[in-house]
Amino acid sequence: MSRVETLIRDMTLAEKLGQLTMTASSYAVTGPVIAGDSTESIKDGTLGNLLNMVGADHVFEMQRLAVEGSRLRIPLLIGLDIIHGHRTLFPVPLAEAALFDPQAWTLTAREAATEAAADGLAMTFAPMLDVSRDPRWGRGVEGFGEDPWLGARMAEAKVRGFQGSDLSAGNSLAACAKHFCAYGAVTAGREYAAVDISERALHEVHLPPFAAAIASGVATVMPSFTDLAAVPMTAHVALLRGWLREEHAFDGVIVSDYNAIAELINHGIAADLVDAATLALKAGVDIDMMSDAYRRGLPKALERGLVTMAQIDTAVRRVLTLKEKLGLFEDPYRRGGTAEAPAAIANRRQVARSVGARAIVMLKNEKDTLPLARPMRCLAVIGPLADAPAEMGGAWGAAQNAEDHVSVVAGVRAALPQVEILHTAGVGIQSGDQHGISKALELCTQADEILLCVGEAANMSGEAASRAHLGLPGEQRGFAEAVLEHAKALGKRVIVVVFSGRPLVVPWLFEKADAVLAAWFLGSEAGNAIADVVTGRVSPSGRTPITWPRDTGQIPIFFGQRPSGRPANPQDHFTSKYLDTPNEPLFPFGHGLTYGRFVLSNLRVTPDCVTESGIIEICVDVSNAGARGAQETVFLFTRDPVASVTRPLLELKGFGKIALEPGATGTVTLQLPAAELRFLGLELKRVFEPGEVELLVGPCADRSQLLVKSVRLSG
Ligand code: BGC
Repeated sequence: MSRVETLIRDMTLAEKLGQLTMTASSYAVTGPVIAGDSTESIKDGTLGNLLNMVGADHVFEMQRLAVEGSRLRIPLLIGLDIIHGHRTLFPVPLAEAALFDPQAWTLTAREAATEAAADGLAMTFAPMLDVSRDPRWGRGVEGFGEDPWLGARMAEAKVRGFQGSDLSAGNSLAACAKHFCAYGAVTAGREYAAVDISERALHEVHLPPFAAAIASGVATVMPSFTDLAAVPMTAHVALLRGWLREEHAFDGVIVSDYNAIAELINHGIAADLVDAATLALKAGVDIDMMSDAYRRGLPKALERGLVTMAQIDTAVRRVLTLKEKLGLFEDPYRRGGTAEAPAAIANRRQVARSVGARAIVMLKNEKDTLPLARPMRCLAVIGPLADAPAEMGGAWGAAQNAEDHVSVVAGVRAALPQVEILHTAGVGIQSGDQHGISKALELCTQADEILLCVGEAANMSGEAASRAHLGLPGEQRGFAEAVLEHAKALGKRVIVVVFSGRPLVVPWLFEKADAVLAAWFLGSEAGNAIADVVTGRVSPSGRTPITWPRDTGQIPIFFGQRPSGRPANPQDHFTSKYLDTPNEPLFPFGHGLTYGRFVLSNLRVTPDCVTESGIIEICVDVSNAGARGAQETVFLFTRDPVASVTRPLLELKGFGKIALEPGATGTVTLQLPAAELRFLGLELKRVFEPGEVELLVGPCADRSQLLVKSVRLSG
């Protein structure tokens, strides 16, 4: 008999339920803190999993209680939200998405896993795979933006990075595809609110990243807090048992979200913990995170015949199997046993710096304001985010030492030792105090150029951080306008660095600033990464992974919308448009300037007719007509103009990159399997319909900037 089966045979009910329970330590707080000492339960074998421990010594202390002190010596599974790094923070996921570089996505996850495993951890609650088309929702920062195809690529890259090629390795973590599913579609972008979307949107938009994670072997899945068309995800039999386990053969662990089983009572589908536990177990949830509903509710549910021991055993089997795959039985101390070499840590900081620089999206650069290459005597680096190391990490980062992050002032000082750097905050991020503005204006008078750092605080995006107004918080607008006007009167240029976990709706800022960088939250090396870009050491190459609205009233706005029967026409009143704002976003998906100037030409598509098993090759020439070397990103979209159901106006199907010196020309070649042109037909089944499909290639999702060729699909 296998180890797992022998254990199940020997376990008491209390021990089984312990394996199905995950409790938070108070080392890091990611939800309401539930007091209580877990150590006794670990020793008596009635608690098998922990979250939120930081530090190998603490982890080992707990692990020792389990493997030396408990009857069956089953090791603990210990997890933490390692969302974009552990101690070293990389850019937040939305910023990383802007790289459009799967290798980099894998690399940062690998580094994060290695660092977290060195702290004794074996599981991360990442990647977050929620498509987010509503920037009011704060959690968009934890994902990849608006596009499901991009999400699927990020899912594959992140699972590969966290889990490595061998889950039992000392530097691998079990990944967790979350939050299953459609959490990003919460009503009006309000956190934890209800979700009610069509079957088509569910399958076309929200599920593909999860399908990709499962195909990549993700070890665990977390259902979302939310409901979906009246069925809370924690109890969603059709999606958890049906779609996930049966259709997609997922045999890993389903771990509930924080207290989500108990919240089935608030949702109004369970009267008490017995009901809630029954519903979750029957839907296939294996681990109860923080509700204590399984330990408290399942014994009664069993007595009343609401659940069976076989159902409990199935969940226990999955948890023990995961512990086995992680190598925890063999050696519960293999993670965290050896401290990392200083060189590995230093190298990780370099990765954070280079990925950080590449995540920056240069949204505007009027008259080549950037880079700051010319000789300069004095630079004013002002604004509430200019010298705010603790804000640089962004949402999540329980193990970070926030004071360790590099601020913009520190980064620019290190990069420009000959230049006098003047700094004052001017205003606070959210405070109402305007007293510092005049001092900031004085510094602008003294300086040659101005770097204005504004935006959100790190905790204004992430969980429980929905916003109805997407402008600059506090007094920042008045402050920024005063700086911009003052600088204009002085004939000086202002470069604005915007920090945010979402696209901020600040059209006035984009109009008045000379250059604008979206710096999201770049992590530990933020200041150095920003300095690299403003000084020209690195040419910016990030592209926005989310459509940038010009008005909050346009939300949700995304490039994959479907056509209208009455397309917008300014000449015709009865068409699909607003009376008071254009339909177009301020910046389309994929927008991002570089220090080069790229021209695309000569789009070739071969063959011009394919069957479902064929492969389409797409080539485009790219020339750098600018004065500096840079890297261009080329996107491949498709458009099916006539199909049995309406198809989105653009669908992302690929991207490629090319680095070119000034005057150089190269070719980007992309391959598209024709099978990727299948779509969900009238019956919501995949169909491959004969006919013409357009292939559109260019720098962003603005149709007017795309080169187009058609391909014929034949049955
Ligand atoms: C979040 C999850 C997270 C969990 C554990 C919850 O509040 O929704 O994303 O993994 O807490 O910290």
